Amino acid sequence: MASALPLALSLLGTFASAYPLTSGGTQKSAPQPYIAPSTQPPASIPGGLPATAPSSQSSGNVNSTSGALTTTGAKGLCDSCQLRPKHFDGTKTHPYCSKTCATKKTNGASNSSGSASSNCIFCHNRPKYFDGSKSHDYCSKACAKTANTHKKGTLNNSIAVCQAPGCTNPPHSGGHEYCSIAHKNLGENLCIMCMQAPKMAHSHFCNQTCADDAESKGPMIIEVPYGHSTFKSVADQFKSSWRHVGSTCPTVKQVYKIVTPKTQLASYNAYKAAVESRGQFVASGRSEGNENRRWHGTRRVCNLGDKGQTQFCNSTTCSLCCIIRTSYDITLWGKKTGWGRFGKGIYTSSTSSKSNDYSHNDCKSNLKAILLNKVVVGKGCKMLQDHTTLTTPPSGFDSVLAEKGGSLNYDELVVYNNDAIRPSFLVMYEA
Ligand SMILES: *[C@@H]1O[C@H](CO)[C@@H](O)[C@H](O)[C@H]1NC(C)=O
Ligand SMILES: *[C@@H]1O[C@H](CO)[C@@H](O)[C@H](O)[C@H]1NC(C)=O
Ligand SMILES: *[C@@H]1O[C@H](CO)[C@@H](O)[C@H](O)[C@H]1NC(C)=O
Ligand SMILES: *[C@@H]1O[C@H](CO)[C@@H](O)[C@H](O)[C@H]1NC(C)=O
Ligand SMILES: *[C@@H]1O[C@H](CO)[C@@H](O)[C@H](O)[C@H]1NC(C)=O
Ligand SMILES: [Zn+2]
Ligand SMILES: [Zn+2]
Ligand SMILES: [Zn+2]
Ligand SMILES: [Zn+2]
Repeated sequence: MASALPLALSLLGTFASAYPLTSGGTQKSAPQPYIAPSTQPPASIPGGLPATAPSSQSSGNVNSTSGALTTTGAKGLCDSCQLRPKHFDGTKTHPYCSKTCATKKTNGASNSSGSASSNCIFCHNRPKYFDGSKSHDYCSKACAKTANTHKKGTLNNSIAVCQAPGCTNPPHSGGHEYCSIAHKNLGENLCIMCMQAPKMAHSHFCNQTCADDAESKGPMIIEVPYGHSTFKSVADQFKSSWRHVGSTCPTVKQVYKIVTPKTQLASYNAYKAAVESRGQFVASGRSEGNENRRWHGTRRVCNLGDKGQTQFCNSTTCSLCCIIRTSYDITLWGKKTGWGRFGKGIYTSSTSSKSNDYSHNDCKSNLKAILLNKVVVGKGCKMLQDHTTLTTPPSGFDSVLAEKGGSLNYDELVVYNNDAIRPSFLVMYEA
């Protein structure tokens, strides 16, 4: 059973990811594809739907044009699922692959929860870019570019147009991506939800509408484009905190922002405020509650985080998906080891190479996953020796800072309250 499980779950992961779902991560049943179009005519494609596909289209052609924001659809693919070819009944091409997709599309047209096809065909979690007259395939130039790079298999450095939203100027000569410094700054600091407007300071979003939109769809992960200031900041932290001597730091391949639902954030923020009011960290120039970013490595059963894989699996043994969905839970503590140097708490490290030791793939992948978390450190009690019986921080403290030296080669931070920590980024790096 133990050996059959990972296989079954990785199949499940593959299955789930083959059907881009709505951003909320709720599983919808997969539409029924036609088994053999030639023997099963689409007689029942509901009337009132556009009967023919664009005339340039031949049936079953999944050859999409490679233009970035200039295409209007992966033209050969079903308008609803974007996964299977449009149905060709011998005479004409229908907009959908199947009756199920046609029905779903019609019913879901005015559904604010959004059908799969209203999202970017690359990242699947941001809405397609609508320029005022038509809807594009991708949410942003960043996704269009990445998608096309992957399609070609090689990096095409000659970009035809400035990567800033709305800009049609040629990029600055010499292999640059933007036409000007101003547009470079804009492009590197876009809201990660809409990718159209600059993000607010100390936020990933451009305005409260985008923040609310994201949080209402959470928990979910949103890919942060390579080149974005957030990607750089996370990748830089990974690199600078890789401290194991004699092992080279792997390259960060993907960074995803973990979007936490409002209720989960509220209890974290309340805890942070309480710690702040006790310790007055802001007054001494630190962050509220002495909040810090710390690494945590864990077990991944599915392929979450691999290229284009943004849907959680629903396995209770996939610690990665469990943590991203509902954050850390001390009551599940010790299931694996039943023992911790500093007792029953949630362990993180400032050292990426230490957390790497705890990152395990129970799936086939050439990437490994690690979580970057925000942790309310508050007043940390420094410890050099093990205290395996702790279930709360020592009196007068909010956490334990296990320092290098003594029984430990690398630092650890231990908190004893579920609300002292939230996963913030999923980072994928070369295995
Ligand atoms: C796309 O179409 C071109 C020309 O019709 C063809 O040569 C090429 O093999 C097609 N590519 C794919 C992936 O179908
Ligand atoms: C809209 O989506 C919700 C949640 O997925 C679903 O319960 C509801 O039936 C949908 N409404 C329509 C008109 O499809
Ligand atoms: C790279 O992109 C440019 C502009 O789109 C195009 O003219 C050129 O042929 C491409 N080169 C390769 C190797 O694909
Ligand atoms: C928030 O940003 C979105 C995307 O840029 C924009 O469409 C919307 O009008 C903005 N809302 C407010 C209240 O500024
Ligand atoms: C998990 O996913 C499988 C396959 O999609 C489904 O059959 C099962 O009901 C799901 N379990 C839960 C608890 O959602
Ligand atoms: Zn996208
Ligand atoms: Zn520009
Ligand atoms: Zn926005
Ligand atoms: Zn999983």
